[in-house]
Amino acid sequence: MKIITSVKSLRHTIDKFKGSGKTIGFVPTMGFLHEGHASLLRQSGRDVDVTVLSIFVNPLQFGPAEDLKNYPRDIKKDELLAKKENVDIIFYPSVDEIYPTGFLTHVYVDDLSDRLCGKSRPGHFGGVATVVLKLVNMVDPDVMYLGQKDAQQAVIVRKMLQDLNVPVKVKILPTVREADGLAMSSRNSYLSLRERREAIVLYKALNQAKTLIKNGERTAKTIVLGMAKMIQEESQGIIDYIQCVNAQNLSVIDVLKNEVLIVLAVKFGRARLIDNIIVRVNE
Ligand code: PAJ
Repeated sequence: MKIITSVKSLRHTIDKFKGSGKTIGFVPTMGFLHEGHASLLRQSGRDVDVTVLSIFVNPLQFGPAEDLKNYPRDIKKDELLAKKENVDIIFYPSVDEIYPTGFLTHVYVDDLSDRLCGKSRPGHFGGVATVVLKLVNMVDPDVMYLGQKDAQQAVIVRKMLQDLNVPVKVKILPTVREADGLAMSSRNSYLSLRERREAIVLYKALNQAKTLIKNGERTAKTIVLGMAKMIQEESQGIIDYIQCVNAQNLSVIDVLKNEVLIVLAVKFGRARLIDNIIVRVNE
């Protein structure tokens, strides 16, 4: 396993692999790796010859009052996990390597970036789209792996790559959860014991929504209110949003049909947690 910090060396190494006919899989991350990231690396290992993992805490996607400085980091532990998952290259650049002095260009996916998390995190998805495009241009992978955990991010990245004619295949893999249902996230490390206990209500509320839909409920408002009630009763979490949206374009749905993405963001102390499920609605 190679650890590479410069774009020049990354390109040189990848060119060599490509020259010998190898296919490249790419898993972009901000590190502090867990089983969710591992699932993406494992899929890449099954699909392609060479797996590239990037670890870069991207300042552009953090707001001024957000947790950039305190974002959890543990490169030594990440290296061990990467090795175990047979990663071939860790790309671990500095901020200067990605954004040298004088950097001026940004990518912004209109409309989709202003919904849901984009409302409380203005500029966030512009930062995500910009860094993902840059990383894809550096790695030039055949396949990129993203998690359904960040559903809005996945929709935005797919759209950006499609709109800008970037020839990379994107695979979105299911959310990996703790045994009690909490979606794995690097930010779960911010939770106090009480918050960690209470945070299981998020997946519970999503499942309650699914059961309601299975039992015939089709009004989004009723489902959202039921979820909010459960979260408020069983936790001190502060709800940012709970919504039923179209899984492809994130538009708000009032009456449920076809494929519905139920998304939520709830703050538990310092941690802003997001989760979602996709429900197929039978007519
Ligand atoms: P990060 O939060 O480190 O996540 C990296 C990738 O792992 C993302 O595609 C995310 O959706 C996926 N992931 C995180 N938790 C997961 C879980 N529990 N199950 C399955 N997949 C999971 O998302 C980012 O970093 C950044 O925004 C990035 C795309 C790297 C751009 O900076």
